[in-house]
Amino acid sequence: MFVRSRRGWELPERLAAPEEVYWSRRRLLRTAGAAPLFFFDSWLRGTEDVGGGSPSGPTPVAADLYPAPRNPRYTLDRPLTDERWATTYNNFYEFGAHKRIWKDAQALPLKPWRLRVDGLVERPREWEVEDLIRRLPLEERLYRHRCVEAWAIAVPWTGFPFRAFLDLVQPLAAARYVRMESFLLPEVAAGQRQSWYPWPYVEALTLEEAAHELAFLATGLYGKPLPPQNGAPLRLVVPWKYGFKSVKSIVRFTFTAERPKTFWSTVAGHEYGFWANVNPEVPHPRWSQRFERMLGGDDRVPTQLFNGYAASVAELYRGLEDEPLFM
Ligand code: MTE
Repeated sequence: MFVRSRRGWELPERLAAPEEVYWSRRRLLRTAGAAPLFFFDSWLRGTEDVGGGSPSGPTPVAADLYPAPRNPRYTLDRPLTDERWATTYNNFYEFGAHKRIWKDAQALPLKPWRLRVDGLVERPREWEVEDLIRRLPLEERLYRHRCVEAWAIAVPWTGFPFRAFLDLVQPLAAARYVRMESFLLPEVAAGQRQSWYPWPYVEALTLEEAAHELAFLATGLYGKPLPPQNGAPLRLVVPWKYGFKSVKSIVRFTFTAERPKTFWSTVAGHEYGFWANVNPEVPHPRWSQRFERMLGGDDRVPTQLFNGYAASVAELYRGLEDEPLFM
């Protein structure tokens, strides 16, 4: 079936290859220890584009707001990932089904960026995203981020709690879910010209999840505005779930009574479901989730239940034990 060879995290052979290449190169570099730095850098630039020269990107949104104060409540049990890894090894299928989309993503126009809020909400309306960002208090949080493909990063996001956004737009009592939609610009994003994907990228949360204190709408990364490849100008961050839930470059929030159909559940619902909470004991149908690989090093560390946030989020799922919470 054609979709099989192109699924997001159906990585084993072709799609997994780039990551394997990265790690074997890094191992080789370590062995070659004495290689001069310029060789290391130009080699990576010429081959994998990791941290290579930066093509000029779009004008960032509200750059004067960064860096925002760090909220000390959100700390990490591991070192921060090197910025160049987090910003040059990305999943953003709109720009291609591989990890090296960061240069192509610079073509994403960020101004104007209209944001629509509709559905079961007290105040349906449209914003220019910059106006929204300036209205809500920005803070920095250190979070773990775990991709379903079993790689992980630890990064400083800037943004505002999802709950602050809910307070602003006021969902109606009948709303149970929030659906988030990414942009649709096939003329800019080559991946969107591949019609076998159900564009635009859509994700959703229950309202209880969105109101949880950890749910975050990110506008920045490493003390700067989000680069396009990481989801500028506004993306979701839900650190206890697999990374595909954290939809990038959002243009629309819709409040609904019914559970929305999501991008990956449409492509392969038996592998990338609605809940997608991290759990080392529940393997992906085609690979184990017991360990994760930290980008930028060779560390392979044990995966944690709810990606280490169980004490805070497990209560969200009481009474839902019959649901496929970890798929
Ligand atoms: N959002 C959109 N619009 N398109 C995508 O392809 N990929 C998801 C998520 N959000 C994706 C997306 C996946 S699979 C992951 S792991 C994270 O973004 C990756 O975020 P990062 O590149 O900032 O690490």
